Amino acid sequence: MRVVVTGGAGYVGGFAAERLLELGHEVTVFDNLWRGHAAGVPKGADFIEVDLRDAEGVMRAVRKAAPEAVMHFAAATLVGESMGHPRSYFGVNVVGTHNLIFAMVEAGCSKFVFSSTAAVYGVPERIPILEDDPKKPINPYGQSKWIVEQMLPWHAEAYGLNYACMRYFNVAGGASHRGEDHDPETHLVPILLEAAAGKRDEFTIFGEDYNTFDGTNIRDYVEVHDLVEAHVLALDKLDKPLGAFNLGTKTGFSVKQVLEAARNLTDQPIPARVGPRRAGDPPVLVADSTRARTELGWNPVRSDLETMLNGAWEWLQNNPNGYRK
Ligand SMILES: NC(=O)c1ccc[n+]([C@@H]2O[C@H](COP(=O)([O-])OP(=O)(O)OC[C@H]3O[C@@H](n4cnc5c(N)ncnc54)[C@H](O)[C@@H]3O)[C@@H](O)[C@H]2O)c1
Repeated sequence: MRVVVTGGAGYVGGFAAERLLELGHEVTVFDNLWRGHAAGVPKGADFIEVDLRDAEGVMRAVRKAAPEAVMHFAAATLVGESMGHPRSYFGVNVVGTHNLIFAMVEAGCSKFVFSSTAAVYGVPERIPILEDDPKKPINPYGQSKWIVEQMLPWHAEAYGLNYACMRYFNVAGGASHRGEDHDPETHLVPILLEAAAGKRDEFTIFGEDYNTFDGTNIRDYVEVHDLVEAHVLALDKLDKPLGAFNLGTKTGFSVKQVLEAARNLTDQPIPARVGPRRAGDPPVLVADSTRARTELGWNPVRSDLETMLNGAWEWLQNNPNGYRK
């Protein structure tokens, strides 16, 4: 298939583009390199530098790439930043996605896999979270993704757009040649490993007085190759709208568990201090992903702490400056 991967110069999109190429698909990456890296676009993929907010540019790019399917990873992704800059988040994530699906419909492309997020649920009413649980985003980031999710069924009905919304909880892991290179970095695993590598002085635990077994937040992690596999499985089934899938493992890890595992793996002390809680951080976010397992046949086999940390550590050790040489 000819597949457009938006955000393919970024972390998850780069892994997805690479996997699609391995499977024999023709891949075109759309990215404006705002937070991605030209060096992160896998060899063998075509690359079109385009900003999704530029409706005409997106239309031209879609016509040129003539995709049969689109995997849409490009987004503004930082919860904290979204609170201060909501217009950027609605601009990129809502307007940008609207431009993309508008161009897809015009070009007769009907398969769409969308990167969504656990942030659509806000503070969950029960754990583990199921797909049909209430959506009450508490930040513009989560709201922007939920707006897009709500647009999609109407496009299915009116234009025959077949879509899948993949709601990620936390993504982690890497490979020797590919990994997370965010600026700023806000994710736990790379931050811990940067501290282990001496690139940060210390690590801050945001609160240790939560109602969890060790007082720190518990989050559900999926290893990045496992995560991408769910998208590949969804792509195969997109001859009808599929709806939304939680991508998690139901097994959460606490901040202190991840910290200890990182200390063990790297054999470094990783100095940690306890800071105040962050606003809007629920104590536990864990997904029930039965739907992805039964309907897509998804089986996340690499999402244990050791595999995730190993991959991310391998990436950091081989590429101490990320994609910058
Ligand atoms: N990484 C996670 O833990 C996580 C968790 C939940 C959801 N997600 C979602 O997964 C997707 C990928 O996340 P990631 O961690 O790979 O992010 P990333 O920042 O590494 O990649 C996003 C890419 O999108 C590109 N982009 C941003 N704005 C653009 C625009 N206007 N036009 C074109 N390209 C643009 C960036 O340059 C970047 O290459 C996002 O949609 C994110 O919301 C990620």
